[in-house]
Amino acid sequence: MQEIEEQKRYMKEVKKINEGITKKYYILTMGCQLNENDSEKLSGMLEEMGYSKVEEEKEADLVLLNTCCIRENAEDKLFGKLGELKRAKTENGIIIAIGGCMMQQDHMIEKIKKSYSFVDLIFGTHTLHKFPEDLYQVLNEKEKIKDVLDIDGEIYEGLPIKRDSKIKASVTIMNGCNNFCSYCIVPYVRGRERSRNPKDIMEEIVGLAKEGYKEITLLGQNVNSYLRSEKEGLRPKFEEYEGIHSFATLLRKVNEIKGIERIRFISPHPKDFTQDVIEAIRDGEKICKLIHLPLQSGSTNILKKMNRKYSKEQYLKLVENMKKTIPNLTLSTDIIVGFPGETEEDFEDTLDVVRKVKFEQVYMFLYSRRVGTPGDKMEDQIPEEIKHERFNRLKKLVEEQMKESNQKYVGTIQTVLVDGPSKNNKTLLSGRTDSNKVVIFEGPQNCIHQLVKIKIISEHMWYLRGELIEE
Ligand code: 5AD
Ligand code: SF4
Repeated sequence: MQEIEEQKRYMKEVKKINEGITKKYYILTMGCQLNENDSEKLSGMLEEMGYSKVEEEKEADLVLLNTCCIRENAEDKLFGKLGELKRAKTENGIIIAIGGCMMQQDHMIEKIKKSYSFVDLIFGTHTLHKFPEDLYQVLNEKEKIKDVLDIDGEIYEGLPIKRDSKIKASVTIMNGCNNFCSYCIVPYVRGRERSRNPKDIMEEIVGLAKEGYKEITLLGQNVNSYLRSEKEGLRPKFEEYEGIHSFATLLRKVNEIKGIERIRFISPHPKDFTQDVIEAIRDGEKICKLIHLPLQSGSTNILKKMNRKYSKEQYLKLVENMKKTIPNLTLSTDIIVGFPGETEEDFEDTLDVVRKVKFEQVYMFLYSRRVGTPGDKMEDQIPEEIKHERFNRLKKLVEEQMKESNQKYVGTIQTVLVDGPSKNNKTLLSGRTDSNKVVIFEGPQNCIHQLVKIKIISEHMWYLRGELIEE
């Protein structure tokens, strides 16, 4: 691709500028796994340009902040960080670059220009691949750069990537979202849905398997709409590749790749969870049986106001069907507490669904008003203290259920992919079950990065304790 060839030339130019000096970069990633995957690409480009990564921002010549804007606390975090960085900028002349979702919002750029004018480079989600060119301009022309586009960027192939893990890799399969849930800012900052060519995805995963990667997470804001816009004629179709024409067929093909042992994906939308996807999960022995199925609210009224396009009953029916079809299925979910107009009765419906489904894990969020979304303009906003009070009630229920679900593991034998030494006790090893539970156990170093069988002996809320079974 011509655009990427041009960026490769800029990478060489920046490398020349840095010749003979070891330049260091620090990268802070906020938000979701898609952002983490973008940061791995930014790291790949930086390393290509002669920078090496440091874990302390104090040591860095270049600080890169990859932002998120899904909730307000992400903004507080960014401005706190910029406050701290001002001194480093004046004393050491470091380069400060900010990218990601928040930079797609005009009011954020205005705020940075006004109050944090020392920032050197601002880029958005559609211009990530141009980072080498933008950095070159900053270094060479000594000017401040803003490179943000409003139109949906293409998905560029062939960028270098430096992955954080040697065994687990994320692979973005689509970008953007067409759903416009009324609380959510994502469709405005990530643009419309566009899928990656199945051939590029398959080649990337085959390459990862050859490098020794064992677990793949397929990523997309709406992952089970993969190839839908292309099928509906909203975007040009790709050339036929190995019979892949939908998310289900992609799952089946990834399942066939030799060397890959585990497949995960996030985040699907319940309304697009079709029977072919459910059956592909059932049939794919490598596809993890922990499925993330965002609920958001258990109340049909609120779901309607959220523009989620399913009711409480439809969600429960889908879960029932999935549980019936997929043996050993476990579920995790996202729930927003305190969406405008949420009554006590609505919230009780959310608790009711949580009680019925018995999720393995629940990610809970206080509703956060996002400028530009319909939710922000709704009149009946919920007072903060009510949101917190409901949040705590939900948390209590979730914790009780977690204890119960943890107890189910005690005495069972689990297959665990070993990440490495445990963070809190280096003499022990830590890994994850198919259902993503942390398991801590004693074992030899050669277990690291392998799949092993572990007998679970006790549960401790956030982790399970186990014993290695010699085979
Ligand atoms: N306020 C609170 N939570 C939100 N999410 C998305 N937008 C908002 C918002 N405005 C949550 C949803 C989504 C997850 C990634 O973040 O639960 O599934
Ligand atoms: Fe946001 Fe809804 Fe799209 Fe998910 S599906 S990114 S919650 S608009």
